[in-house]
Amino acid sequence: MSAKALTASLERPSSRIPGFYQLDVRSRHRELAQRFDLTDEDLELLWGASMDGVAIADKMVENCVGILRLPIGLGLNFQVNGRDYVVPMAVEEPSVVAAASNIARVVRASGGFQAQADPSVMIAQVQVLGVNDIDDARAALTEAAPTIVEAANARHPRMVARGGGAIGIEVRVLDSAPRMVVVHLLINCCDAMGANIANDMAECVAPLIEEATGGRACLRILSNLADRRLARAHCTIREELLERPGHAGPDVAGGVVEAYRFAAADPYRAATHNKGVMNGIDAVGIATGNDWRSLEAGAHAYAARNGRYEPLTRWWRSKGHLHGEIELPMAVGTVGGSTRVQPVLGVLQKLLRAESAQELAMVMAAVGLAQNLGALCALASEGIQRGHMSLHARSVALAAGVSQDRIDDVAAKLVRIGDFSPSAARRIAETV
Ligand code: MEV
Repeated sequence: MSAKALTASLERPSSRIPGFYQLDVRSRHRELAQRFDLTDEDLELLWGASMDGVAIADKMVENCVGILRLPIGLGLNFQVNGRDYVVPMAVEEPSVVAAASNIARVVRASGGFQAQADPSVMIAQVQVLGVNDIDDARAALTEAAPTIVEAANARHPRMVARGGGAIGIEVRVLDSAPRMVVVHLLINCCDAMGANIANDMAECVAPLIEEATGGRACLRILSNLADRRLARAHCTIREELLERPGHAGPDVAGGVVEAYRFAAADPYRAATHNKGVMNGIDAVGIATGNDWRSLEAGAHAYAARNGRYEPLTRWWRSKGHLHGEIELPMAVGTVGGSTRVQPVLGVLQKLLRAESAQELAMVMAAVGLAQNLGALCALASEGIQRGHMSLHARSVALAAGVSQDRIDDVAAKLVRIGDFSPSAARRIAETV
């Protein structure tokens, strides 16, 4: 570890909290309060007891009638570029947080994740129809580019003052019927996701684009294929560390590579492979107040960028190690949008401690890679159902109306008999 990374990691609480999963929620809160300087008010917000909840929700959407809650789990053990991260994940699927934490522990023992993220450049699109001479329009747009960029920036001086703002345009001609000109305005959104600023700038510069091209500006909206802000992560794991009951580490590594090859060869499998990746990324996106639908759209469009739908990760073996990498658009922010609308998001940010959009993007890429490996290791060894169903059993018991204090017992019995129906849960509850 470099001296810089070492200093950074010494300043941060460790993401290793052994036995955290065995504590009750109150004890976990005590642990977090101590490690992350959380106040009583922060803990109150984590309980979700804030009476302001519905009032805030009512300001967020039309016709609000309530709040649908999601559990927040912590992805532990993450180390990215030598820094520890405790990663909040909001998700209803039982095995997601456990799988991410397990893999992060294994990767940590092999040096952690290495990650990178591009500057936060969003693309705003302006569609132009009715252009008579495409070559003339292209030349006119090139000449008008500085004026277009200046106009966009004049509208958002605060973003410019923060070191961001519009940085250029690109002109594309689509061979559609009719042919159309599409102007991309490239905008550095700094630590914001940037949807509002991108849409606003697109609307602001559309008249200038019409003037230059003689055409008619139609759609003016960001692109969710945010391929100017890609995040990448990779990891290298000693194969013995992948050992699972009844499966030697190298066999699991071999199975992971075979699983990757399946996804690379078959879009039907690639869709499921990438769903596993997004299980983790969406969960962090939600827990950081980011727009997970935009993350989904960007990821899947990027997966199809070569004209065929492909896996977002790649796995290979060399010299006793399993290597993995991921690359995908990561349009996320740490400021603006909905990142602070709900007070609990501020508490989760205190735990995560990602100070910039790029830092958050790197952590999320690492989580996506971990989540994918968790799924592939299980699929390549005992299969997904055993672990999945033993966690799912608790949800079945809960949904069947079993009282809180008996859920664990009933879930254990459901696993033992291999029946996960609500009727089995009710039957067991009557007898235990
Ligand atoms: C389930 O939510 C995700 C998996 O299907 C992913 C995969 O198959 O790689 C287990």
